[in-house]
This record gives sequence, structure tokens and C-alpha cells, in this order.
Amino acid sequence: MIDKLNEAYEKFQAEIETLSAQADVLSLKSSYLGKKGAVSEILKSLKDATPEERKEIGPKANEIKQEIEKLVAKKLSDIELAQINEKLSKNKIDITFTDAVKAKNNNHGGFHPRTLVQQEVEDIFLSMGFEVLDGPHIETEFYNFEALNIPGDHPARDMQDTFWFKDEKSPEGNKHLLRTHTSTIQVRGMQSRKPPFRFIAPGTVFRCERTDASHEMVFQQLEGMMVGKDISVSNLIYFMKEILTEIFKKDVEVRLRPGYFPFVEPGFELDIKCQVCSGKGCSVCKQVGWVELLPCGMVHPNVLRAGGIDPEEYNGFAFGLGLDRLVMMKYGIDDIRHLQSGDLRFNSQFKEY
Ligand code: PHE
Repeated sequence: MIDKLNEAYEKFQAEIETLSAQADVLSLKSSYLGKKGAVSEILKSLKDATPEERKEIGPKANEIKQEIEKLVAKKLSDIELAQINEKLSKNKIDITFTDAVKAKNNNHGGFHPRTLVQQEVEDIFLSMGFEVLDGPHIETEFYNFEALNIPGDHPARDMQDTFWFKDEKSPEGNKHLLRTHTSTIQVRGMQSRKPPFRFIAPGTVFRCERTDASHEMVFQQLEGMMVGKDISVSNLIYFMKEILTEIFKKDVEVRLRPGYFPFVEPGFELDIKCQVCSGKGCSVCKQVGWVELLPCGMVHPNVLRAGGIDPEEYNGFAFGLGLDRLVMMKYGIDDIRHLQSGDLRFNSQFKEY
């Protein structure tokens, strides 16, 4: 009987190997362990065995039953695992943003062209050792004008039509306004660091102006400042050229002419050949073929003083890149008002990730 039991067990092992469906495994199990199953059939002849034989066969039969149960449980869990793996391999979700997905669904978000250009410019300056600073939109007239060498009665205040707040004065006796340029951060930057230093400060600025193809009331500038010993106009020109080649990745025609800003001396206007009309004349360049892109100059001693820096010891340059104009030149956009329109037909042309 023992031999028969062993034989049955071996047969069972061979049979279960070949199965791959849960139902088959269960029916194999009952064909061995069920009431009329092979093992039960063998055990029926137990009654004819001697007491000694029974002592031996009883535990052996139990052992084989347990082994069969174990093999069945193992086989069932193997089958379940195989099914799960098969499902997983069939229902794969590709969470990467492939070109195929992009092509299928074009309604995804993307960056605004301003953001794209700002990030690019920031990366260029970061690689040249500049810090990136931020500053408040609501300013006092000290930071927007006085510290920049534009006292209250200075005619240059009229150069930038200002949105003033009604709340009158700050605790220091200063009126509040919406900053008209990012040059405010020149002073804040100087006050909070010691030379030598170099930083840029991108941000929104506000002017109470009539809008047209190249003017908006709310627009973006990127201020830059470098202060140290023996900084010269050639350093300034080097940096300006460097950024423009990096951004346009081609030679763009530029011209440098004298420009007046009370906070720089000498001051320059760096113009770029209009990329919208290739210099032929259009509404963006007001038919002159050139666009004012990068006003700049050597920092005025009074401004250094207002920032707590001794102009006898240090000097530097500053510039105020017109970020929106740069975006327009880079992408050939013919009206600055598109940038703020929120129109998806415009915005979705620049999607990049
Ligand atoms: N702040 C000036 C403007 O907005 C630009 C500028 C910045 C000029 C720095 C010179 C140096 O018009």
C-alpha cells in the first residue's frame, strides 16, 4: 500500500506540473483527495491490513495528503501570480510624455513664451556667475526714483508715467507706487550685499501709458547689475553681446548709441535690427527698422552711494533688458498685446517642456 501511495503521489506531481488553470488544479485535487479520489481508494483497503501495517500506512497517508495540499496551494498561487503579471504586461500605462501622446492629445498646457525666454536668459546669466534676485511690485518713490538719482523735481520722472497709490506716504515719508522699472532692485541688491557682485532681476513693471503694438501698461524687464573694481564700458559691451548671441544663436545686427538715464553715466541704448520685419520697417519698430532692446550704462556715483557703496573704490554697469521685446524679436511676434491676451490660439504656439 505504501508503494501504491508513493506511486499515486508521483503521478499527482507529474500531472499537476502540466496544469495551468485553477479549475483543472482543483479537479485534480479532488480526483486524489476527494471521497472517490485515488488516495481514498487506496486507503479503502486499509481494513485488510495488519495492525502494524496500519501504524505505518496511517501517518504515510496523512503525509502524502498534506504534500498534495501543499502542491495544490503552491500551484494555485503560481497561477494567480502569472495571471497578474500577464494583466500588467497587457495594461501597461506609459507615464512618460512621448511624442505619440503629444500628437494624440494636443490640449496639454505649456509654458508662456515669456517664461521660456526668461528661463533661457536666467540660465545664461547663472552660467556667467550672476545671482537671480526678486523685488516687490509695490515700491516707494525712494527705490523707484530718488535712490536712482531722480529727485522729486527731476524732469526724468515724466519719462515713466507712474501709477501712484492714494495711501499717500510710507512710514519713511515716501509715497507708494507700482514700480515703473526693475531698476528698483539695483538699490535693494546693493544694500544687501558687498562688492564685488553681479545679479539679474527679472520682473513685471507698470506704466500708465497708452498701448500700441510695442507698448503695454504691464510688461516685463530684466535688470542686471555688476559692481566691482575697475569695471569698464568694454565689460558691459562684452556681456551684452554674449547674451544676445546666446539667445538668438545667430549673429544679430545691433547698434549702440548714447542714451540718457539719470542712474547711469555714460548711458547707452543698445538697439537690435527688428526681427519682425528684418529691418524693413513695421509697427513694432515704428517703421525705423531698429528696436530698443537693452538700455544700459555705467552706474552713476550717486546711485552707488544710495546703495551704500563707495564710488571712489567701486564702479559697475547696469542694464534693463526689455524681456517682452526680446520675446517678440525671438519669435517674430508683431504685437506686444498678444503676450497678455490670454488667447490660447496665441499661447499654444509655444508649447515646450
Ligand atoms: N530702467 C530703465 C528703463 O526702464 C532701463 C535701464 C536700466 C537703463 C539700467 C539703464 C540701466 O527705462
